[in-house]
Amino acid sequence: MKNILIIGSTGQIGSELTMKLRNTYTGNVVAGYIPSAAPQGELKESGPCEVVDITNAAQIAEVVDKYQIDTIYNLAALLSAVAETKPQLAWHIGIDGLCNVLEVSREKKCAVFTPSSIGSFGPDTPKVKTPQDTLQRPKTMYGVTKVAGELLSDYYFNRFGVDTRSVRFPGLISYVTPPGGGTTDYAVDIYYSAVKGEKFVCPIAAGTFMDMMYMPDALRASIEIMEADPTKLVHRNSFNIASMSFDPEIISKKIKEYIPQFEMEYQFDSLRQGIADSWPDSLDDTCAREEWGWKPEYDLDGMTRDMIEKLKIRFNK
Ligand code: SER
Repeated sequence: MKNILIIGSTGQIGSELTMKLRNTYTGNVVAGYIPSAAPQGELKESGPCEVVDITNAAQIAEVVDKYQIDTIYNLAALLSAVAETKPQLAWHIGIDGLCNVLEVSREKKCAVFTPSSIGSFGPDTPKVKTPQDTLQRPKTMYGVTKVAGELLSDYYFNRFGVDTRSVRFPGLISYVTPPGGGTTDYAVDIYYSAVKGEKFVCPIAAGTFMDMMYMPDALRASIEIMEADPTKLVHRNSFNIASMSFDPEIISKKIKEYIPQFEMEYQFDSLRQGIADSWPDSLDDTCAREEWGWKPEYDLDGMTRDMIEKLKIRFNK
C-alpha cells in the first residue's frame, strides 16, 4: 500500500498517471490540482482530489498530513515554449515549488518523483546517443529549471536522505490529454490532424530529430523507477530513458502507411525550432536499463497504430 499525492494531476502526464496509480495501488491516491484546472469525470470520481498549489508549502504539508502521504509525484511545470514567454513563472513553479515539495518531504519522510527532460541538455551536449552523465548547459528557462531540479533533488537525497528519483522524459505522445506549450507537441498534433482528415502544418523543420515516447511507456517508467531497488541505483536524478527518435518526415511517412491521403506542409516556428535545435537527437538510456531494468514497449509503428486507432474512435472516423 502507498499513499500518493500527485501535484499537477490534471496536466498532460498527471491526468493519465493519476488513473494508473489508482489502478495500481490500494492506498489513497490524491489528485492535487489548482482551481483553474480542476479534475473532471473519471479523475474526479475515482478518488480523493485536493487543491494543492505547489507554490504554497503549507497547503502541500496539510494534504500530506491529512492522507498520510508517503510518495509525491511532482508534475507541476510549464512546458518549454511557454516557459520562454514566462521565465519567472517557470522558475517559480519549477524551482520554488520543488523546494516546497522537498522541504515537506524532508519533514514528513516522503519519496519524491520530479520529472526532468531532454530539455535539460543544451547545444554543447553530445547530440547523438547523449550519455547519462554529460554536459548540461541548456539555453532555455525550462532546461535551467530541469537541471536545477535534478541537482536539488540529488542534494536532498545526499544531504537529508530524501528518497528522490526521476527520469528525463523525451517528448510524450498520447491520445488522452494534449500537451500545451511544448516543443515536441507537433508529434501529438500531427496525429490529431491526420485522423481528422486535415492537412498538418508542421512547426518543426525536416531533419530535426528528437527523442519521443508513447505515454504508456512513460507512465510505466514513472512507477518502475519509484519501485526500483534502491541498492541498485547508482544514479537518481535523473535517468535518461528512450524509446524512439524521429524527425517530422519520418513520422509523417509512418502516418501515411495508415492514412495514405495524409498531407503535411512546413511553416516553422522560430521559438520552437530554436529550442529543438538545442536538444539532443537521441538519448543513451543504458544506465536506466542496467540499474532498474528500464525497457520500452512501443516503437514508432506500434505507437502510430495505437494512436490512430484510439483517435478514430474518439473522433468517430
Ligand atoms: N515535451 C517537453 C517540451 O516539449 C519536453 O520535455 O517542452
